[in-house]
Amino acid sequence: MQIITNPDEMRDQCRALRASGQRLGFVPTMGALHEGHLSLLHAAARECDVVAASLFVNPLQFGPSEDLARYPRDFEGDRAKFEAAGVKLLFAPGVEQMYAGPSLTFVTVESMSDRLCGRSRPGHFRGVTTVVSKLFHIVEPDVAYFGQKDAAQAAIIRRMVRELNFPVAIVVCPIVRASDGVALSSRNAYLNPEQRQAAQVLHRALARAEQAVSQGERRAQALVAEARAEFAREPHARLDYLEIVDPDTLEPVDDVSGGALLAVAAFLGTTRLIDNVVIPPQRNP
Ligand code: PAF
Repeated sequence: MQIITNPDEMRDQCRALRASGQRLGFVPTMGALHEGHLSLLHAAARECDVVAASLFVNPLQFGPSEDLARYPRDFEGDRAKFEAAGVKLLFAPGVEQMYAGPSLTFVTVESMSDRLCGRSRPGHFRGVTTVVSKLFHIVEPDVAYFGQKDAAQAAIIRRMVRELNFPVAIVVCPIVRASDGVALSSRNAYLNPEQRQAAQVLHRALARAEQAVSQGERRAQALVAEARAEFAREPHARLDYLEIVDPDTLEPVDDVSGGALLAVAAFLGTTRLIDNVVIPPQRNP
């Protein structure tokens, strides 16, 4: 595996691979790799001839009071995991290589970026779409892989790619969960044992709403009430949002018959976790 920090060199190497007729898969990450990231790398290895990845903790997507400084970093551990997953090119730039000075140019997917996590984390999705655009321009992949755990991010990136004509296919891979149901996240590392136990409430709340759907409930408000009832029983978790939205536009929906995304964010102490479930289109009960 070659580790590259310079954007121009990364572009040259990626272009050389594609020029030799190889289909290039790309997995952007902020490191602190877990099985969720590995599932993206494995999908890329299965579906493409060659895999590139990036490791860059992007300051632009963190708010001033967020966890940029303490975001988990383990370059050596990550390097070994990227290598074992068959990554050929790892792009690991420093902040100064990605942002030479104060930026004046941003990519924003209007209105969608203010929904769900975007409402609680102003500027977050602008930071994500800006860095992902830059990475796409550097790597020029045929296919890029994202996780369903951040369903809003995936929807916003799909929209950006469509509207800005990026010649890249977006693949969204399923959420990977621990045996207790908690969705894998680099931020799970912040949780103490009590908070880790309490974190199960996100999954339980979603499962309770899903069960209500399977019993015939279609009203979004009633499903949100079901899921909230689960949070009411867990004093160590503080709900940030729990919403039912259209999976493509992230606009709220009143009825899930046509399919919907049930998304949740909650604080365990100061750690904010997210999770979601897609409710497929339903036949009437
Ligand atoms: O999902 C993430 O890890 C980040 O938001 C991404 C896509 C790597 C951009 O920094």
